[in-house]
Amino acid sequence: MPARTCLFMLCVLVSSLQANANELQQLADASRDIISEFSSHLKNALTDAIQEGGPVNAIAVCKTRAPEIAEALSREGWQIRRTSLKVRNPANTPDEFERKVLEDFERRKNEGKDIRQLAYYKMKEVGEQSEFRYMTAIPTDELCLTCHGNTISEAVKTRLDQLYPGDQARGFRTGDIRGAFSLKKIFRRELQGEESIQPDNAPLPADETTGEVTNSP
Ligand code: HEC
Repeated sequence: MPARTCLFMLCVLVSSLQANANELQQLADASRDIISEFSSHLKNALTDAIQEGGPVNAIAVCKTRAPEIAEALSREGWQIRRTSLKVRNPANTPDEFERKVLEDFERRKNEGKDIRQLAYYKMKEVGEQSEFRYMTAIPTDELCLTCHGNTISEAVKTRLDQLYPGDQARGFRTGDIRGAFSLKKIFRRELQGEESIQPDNAPLPADETTGEVTNSP
């Protein structure tokens, strides 16, 4: 092949990789915006409800408002939810990908990483579709302990027992990872299988058996 053709093809390749990288970066930025909106709406609703009617009353906010806010933000094909390794509502149970990322967040937290910096995203090929996934860790703070901590009031306990018989989301302490925000967007067009990692992110261990996590450093 003549050198000039070769150079041209190299340029095409580099610019298409660049385009994908930019696209991925834009999706990651959009994810961060959605999460910050979700998170602040939820925290405001929770704080207001606790002030107005106490924590038992605020349980309803987590139960009904959280999915409503998630639904409202799920526009333009975005799907947003919360998940955790220890769920209160079984509907929030992580899928295989989410579980791996959550476990990786725990590992990195134990290595001393700041929970607020823990994020992970990737683009995955699923048949004809491309699927963008984005997750960030949710830290546990004082406010959360009222309903997720070690010393939950009897009234709150009773209400939680009624609503969530299999509740695993108690016994958390400040500084723990409570769970994660998890976003998904599906595309029908072709995109190169590619994933990217934020500055403080380490890649997940590759998993040959499922192909779910196909990162390499
Ligand atoms: C007033 C009680 C209350 C407080 C305070 C509270 N939560 Fe929750 N939390 C709940 C309830 C109830 C659910 C289950 C919601 C549902 O049915 O989807 C829940 C669910 C969650 C979930 C989804 C995963 C799961 O366990 O099902 C996350 C993540 C979460 N809470 C994080 C937090 C964080 C972070 C804070 C502090 C900023 C917090 N919560 C404060 C009651 C509370």
